[in-house]
Amino acid sequence: MIRPADLIERKRNGEVHSPDELSELILGYARGEIPDYQLAAWCMAVYFRGLNGAETYALTDAMIRSGTTLDLGAALGRRVVDKHSTGGVGDKTSIAVGPIVAACGVPVGKMSGRGLGHTGGTLDKLESIPGLNVELSNDAFVAQVRDVGLAIVGQTGDLVPADKQLYGLRDVTATVDIVPLIASSIMSKKIAGGADAIVLDVKVGDGAFMKTLDDARVLAETMLELGRRAERDVVCLLTDMEQPLGAAVGNALEIAEARRTVCGEGPADFTELVLDACAHMLALSDLGVDVEEGRVRAEAAIADGSALRLYERWIRAQGGDPDEEALPRAPVVKELRAPVAGYVTRLGAIGVGQAALELGAGRRTKADSIDHSVGIVCRAKRGDLVAEGDVLAEIHARSEHEARLGCAYVLSAYEIGDAPARDRPLLLDVVS
Ligand code: URA
Repeated sequence: MIRPADLIERKRNGEVHSPDELSELILGYARGEIPDYQLAAWCMAVYFRGLNGAETYALTDAMIRSGTTLDLGAALGRRVVDKHSTGGVGDKTSIAVGPIVAACGVPVGKMSGRGLGHTGGTLDKLESIPGLNVELSNDAFVAQVRDVGLAIVGQTGDLVPADKQLYGLRDVTATVDIVPLIASSIMSKKIAGGADAIVLDVKVGDGAFMKTLDDARVLAETMLELGRRAERDVVCLLTDMEQPLGAAVGNALEIAEARRTVCGEGPADFTELVLDACAHMLALSDLGVDVEEGRVRAEAAIADGSALRLYERWIRAQGGDPDEEALPRAPVVKELRAPVAGYVTRLGAIGVGQAALELGAGRRTKADSIDHSVGIVCRAKRGDLVAEGDVLAEIHARSEHEARLGCAYVLSAYEIGDAPARDRPLLLDVVS
């Protein structure tokens, strides 16, 4: 039997754990035999000392073994493709990508997480849809992917339960932004969820856990290696998170934007990323198409309305109302106007994410509840030319007071200068 305190001490001192030790630590935690405070201390030791490749694999493997696994491909008799993002501000990509890819004839069964730190979580966003249920049993999940072509759910109680616990703990102990813990968290869910091929959107920049392209490459390589060991095909898109993705930040606001994107009316940057992700997913599927043809098919599914029809079927299948009008609305909407004329040279993603958190769109502690209606719509983005008094952003808040505070926060995320900012593409690299 391991003593958790010994493992914490040894990791603090920079020692390497054996696979058995990691297995006992994680499985003991998942069974409730090791308390949160010891895992929190261990995560912090890992934060400073890291895990090597073998430890990261052993951790991922233990997380998978903490619960049951699914073989979606066998259940459907199809090659199953999944997608996951490392998390950013305004990142509602899965909610648009899922129905588009499914409308192209490729089944998507996806397990998502909740908000971590200043980033939102797909499940929280989906729960802003009245009636929508993200807690499906494994059988119901498989049946919905078979019948509808798409299901996005939380980790069921018996699928990677260790990650579900750890994810919440890391969120409130400043141990989120560390490569081996992010890689094992994401890949354990993807592998246990049964996907044969996985497109990973690795966010880079101010609003992401990985601040630099070099760090993002390390995370991408770590996840590719975990995929290789588990015999899954993995492609990593490295994408910009220096500013929020699209315009909307906040749960219901992001659902509305994702829905509009499925209809072909989304913001240009977000639409671009959605099409990139769809193209790569379709290229990894059993349709036998390459990335270019995948993109053409994704565009066609948007244009002919099949993606929207699939979105509506999917949301109804999970008990939700797919109508945009059904989404909750904040009682106060205040416009933030440009104090000077000029080019938007910067719109800090983290500043906007934190403003959304202050407005009530995210969680400070594991137990916090969130307000689905509040958030920010960024009307001006990096590179835009604004006149004095133009609307920079809308603040959706619970009260006038909170709206004023939100305005001050969001204003500090904007920088307006005389010359346009250096252009930075959204898709920075593809690693496979
Ligand atoms: N997304 C996850 O699923 N896990 C992390 O640790 C970070 C982002």
